[in-house]
Amino acid sequence: MLAGYSVQYWNILTHIRANYMHQNDKKQMVAEAVLDYIDTGQVLGIGSGSTVEIFISHLNKIRSKIDACVSSSDKTSQLLDQNGFRVIELREVGTIPIYIDGADEANKQKQLIKGGGGALTREKIVASCSEKFICIIDDSKFVSKLGKFPLPIEVISMAQSKIALEMIKKGARPVLRENFITDNKNIILDVHGMDINEPIVLERELNNMPGVVTNGLFSQKPADVLLISDGINVKNI
Ligand code: 5RP
Repeated sequence: MLAGYSVQYWNILTHIRANYMHQNDKKQMVAEAVLDYIDTGQVLGIGSGSTVEIFISHLNKIRSKIDACVSSSDKTSQLLDQNGFRVIELREVGTIPIYIDGADEANKQKQLIKGGGGALTREKIVASCSEKFICIIDDSKFVSKLGKFPLPIEVISMAQSKIALEMIKKGARPVLRENFITDNKNIILDVHGMDINEPIVLERELNNMPGVVTNGLFSQKPADVLLISDGINVKNI
């Protein structure tokens, strides 16, 4: 009986490990492929998350091409700094030629859900100042309809109940992200089960709610290039 359980447990662990490694391999592949999109002498906008962290680990290969970086989170700034890249403020440049970031979900219109790492506000600001937003994902994140991944919303804490109520009225289930404060000192509500039929309309509607700082829909300004790794190839869609 006990041995039976151990075998089952071992099989589950092996399965989880294989899946995780596979996804990580795909992230490695796409994070390396995007290097080809970077021209010499560029200020690079850089997002947040594990795919971006892998990308940063490859950046050394094209170090001479990069003048400086604009970062979308304190964590990314720290990592870039540790790797010897010059991090400058967005206000010093205004416009950025290329912004590279991951996503939690993407559809074929290159509309995204972002914010799994909680950096959505700065990510949206940097993306909005970029001439070309290149999004790098593995194929598990490519969906026909956005919304299986809970939609993150950064909220000013005094508006927590009000915004949560609005989400419930929409038939969704808001969950406060525990023990998490954004770089801007706000809270995150992760909204489960939101029916996202019209991403642009919903993005605008959520933006208009007093207390909402940013929502994780990137659909009014989607990615310009979406690179997807399936572990064998990297497709540009
Ligand atoms: C952070 C983000 C990330 O891009 C998103 O969560 C994807 O992360 P990962 O590369 O770790 O899967 O939006 O706010």
